[in-house]
Amino acid sequence: MASSPGYAYHRSQICVIDSNDRDLGAVRSALDPYYDVQAFANSQDALDWLRGNRPALVVMDEACRPLSGLSLLEAFFRIPIVRQGEWKSRAPVICTGSGKGSPFLLRARELKADFLMLKPYKGSQLLQAVSALVNRKHEEGWERLPEAASDALLLSADLFDSLSDMVENNLPLPLGSIALACKAIDTAAAKGQTGILLNSLIGHNNVIFVHSLRVAMHLALFGRATGVSGMSLMSLIMAGLLHDMGKIGIPVQTLNKPGELSFEERKLMRGHLEDTTKILDRSAGAPQSVVAAIAQHHERLDGTGYPQGLIGEAVSAFGRQLAIADVYCAMTDLRPYRPAKSRDEALAEMQTMKGAFDPALFKLFKRLVAEEAALAAPSEPAIAMADEVPPPPP
Ligand SMILES: [Fe+2]
Repeated sequence: MASSPGYAYHRSQICVIDSNDRDLGAVRSALDPYYDVQAFANSQDALDWLRGNRPALVVMDEACRPLSGLSLLEAFFRIPIVRQGEWKSRAPVICTGSGKGSPFLLRARELKADFLMLKPYKGSQLLQAVSALVNRKHEEGWERLPEAASDALLLSADLFDSLSDMVENNLPLPLGSIALACKAIDTAAAKGQTGILLNSLIGHNNVIFVHSLRVAMHLALFGRATGVSGMSLMSLIMAGLLHDMGKIGIPVQTLNKPGELSFEERKLMRGHLEDTTKILDRSAGAPQSVVAAIAQHHERLDGTGYPQGLIGEAVSAFGRQLAIADVYCAMTDLRPYRPAKSRDEALAEMQTMKGAFDPALFKLFKRLVAEEAALAAPSEPAIAMADEVPPPPP
């Protein structure tokens, strides 16, 4: 197989303006692991910079010097909107201040600033707001894609937005919306828009959504190639889309943690399988093949997987396919804390995991990925990477 390019990791740029050194440092340290942070203690310098640059987002505090927060805010909204690449609108802005009656925040509301935050707030709250706004912008670009890819992306993103609420409030899954998203994913696969769809996910930083949709898309191809069709194919795609739902409740800092996870964090991550099963259990009508495949997606044919350490034939066909697509996509996913492996690197590493995967299915999967590489060859990500989540991120 020809060597394929890996995805270059690119972080969205966030401009942070705060003349209080301690607060500026706190905001910077909350965002630094995930974003390219341009921090300004001097509001005039920030304004000059904003006149020539278009970050993905601005975080502006009322405590600014030499221009007051209010002056900076008004000047920012007067900057003419120029088209810079994908962007045709001003950067979204989060305004932070200390009291509801603050003239800065009142004016920010009048000007329709995108989000207002009262101090003190937690770093995780800021991260959540930043993530949501940057992602929203990213998703707007999907409306201009070819219809099938656009439908698959937008329906899946809407679905994941609603899943967060449903998981948090112990509600049953919206099986109708899930089925629609699965159908759209299959249509995009059938129309050869896999490359468009996968490239368009680059830059979205809801890691669960991106991973799940990538897995579902690969399963649409995988299923078709193995002769799965009709409702069974929908079930296979659905298993891909829902297999990690239990991770929705895991804090984004743990999901995106740069560096090694602690024992407790690892336990939390591993618990996603049980949580996903619970969510499926309370959703009457979830196909049994979907439930079974999801329950087995961390099993390995040589018995080294979990939770049951199943061996060989005990793992269903869908479970085997989901395991291959899941591991491949996890390795090639872009994550804030590490670069993505290239297709060839991921496949070569999986090749060394002898006995873990069904050999015939793995061989077929490699061929599908090679075909996908020939179609997509994403040496240039369609949209810059790393940050943008539907509200709220997991
Ligand atoms: Fe998983």
